[in-house]
Amino acid sequence: MLFKQQAWLRQKLLVLGSLAVGSLLYLVARVGSLDRLQPICPIEGRFGARGQAEFPLRALQFKRGLLHEFRKGNTSKEQVRLHDLVQQLPKAIIIGVRKGGTRALLEMLNLHPAVVKASQEIHFFDNDENYAKGIEWYRKKMPFSYPQQITIEKSPAYFITEEVPERIYKMNSSIKLLIIVREPTTRAISDYTQVLEGKERKNKTYYKFEKLAIDPNTCEVNTKYKAVRTSIYTKHLERWLKYFPIEQFHIVDGDRLITEPLPELQLVEKFLNLPPRISQYNLYFNATRGFYCLRFNIIFNKCLAGSKGRIHPEVDPSVITKLRKFFHPFNQKFYQITGRTLNWP
Ligand code: A3P
Repeated sequence: MLFKQQAWLRQKLLVLGSLAVGSLLYLVARVGSLDRLQPICPIEGRFGARGQAEFPLRALQFKRGLLHEFRKGNTSKEQVRLHDLVQQLPKAIIIGVRKGGTRALLEMLNLHPAVVKASQEIHFFDNDENYAKGIEWYRKKMPFSYPQQITIEKSPAYFITEEVPERIYKMNSSIKLLIIVREPTTRAISDYTQVLEGKERKNKTYYKFEKLAIDPNTCEVNTKYKAVRTSIYTKHLERWLKYFPIEQFHIVDGDRLITEPLPELQLVEKFLNLPPRISQYNLYFNATRGFYCLRFNIIFNKCLAGSKGRIHPEVDPSVITKLRKFFHPFNQKFYQITGRTLNWP
């Protein structure tokens, strides 16, 4: 009898203990997230009226909760109206460069309570069929946000597509444009690796990088190869500069975003006139992935998908040298135009 009572007591104590630990963990988590939910200072300049645009305490909760529910179709239109939610055209666009780290940049900026990302690449300005659907179609593709927040979308094809600068200019001539670049040869190999993976998935054979990047007749760099052309950043940028002044662009160092993301993100916050809100707490190095991952609070964190951070095939060092020599003068011009020197080899 005594033994039975003791067992019952032990069981009760265990339940109570678990409840206490659970509540404690919940409280710690709440405090952790509330810390990031404090109202922040107004966004200055174009992004909102000075002095009145305070971010509500629930901004991040909304980003992780209501918005998610709305996307899943679980939130009513009434709730959207009650929360003053709107679908806003982007105030900033990550226009490229493909394989520069565009996804990482978008996801990391989305850590900021004032930023709301369009999750999918919308391809509005580079795809004639989409563009023909009109600006309202584009706006409807945007996520719901508070009026004080800014929407950012990324479609890396914008950077290299001829018609895009004029089309974006027509939408908003004072839009902010983000370009994330990596050392051009590495970027070209990353681009090749992505295409190669697609071919392998379809059981198709594909040429070696060396064969595509170097013209076998002239033994010179093959400028017809798209992965090479995309890496001539200055050529593409010059087309954009016919529409937008250089002050409207911000160059993100994609190689540094991999190894040391915070300072790069802080530069973007400044460029977007956002109060500094992303901190080292939000970024932690995941040794298994070999990349920084994102921490929203002590419960919610995420790494980018496995398709980001592929292992590149080995490339003949003489081809790498040739490519680097080829890109060198273009890089110098790019530094000169943008005012950002990246010390690429
Ligand atoms: P690799 O796959 O060549 O390593 P994009 O999003 O524009 O396609 O760019 C993909 C690149 O983002 C990846 O190229 C990877 O190196 C880089 N990247 C930068 N930060 C990253 C992160 N935190 N996690 C995963 N990939 C990241």
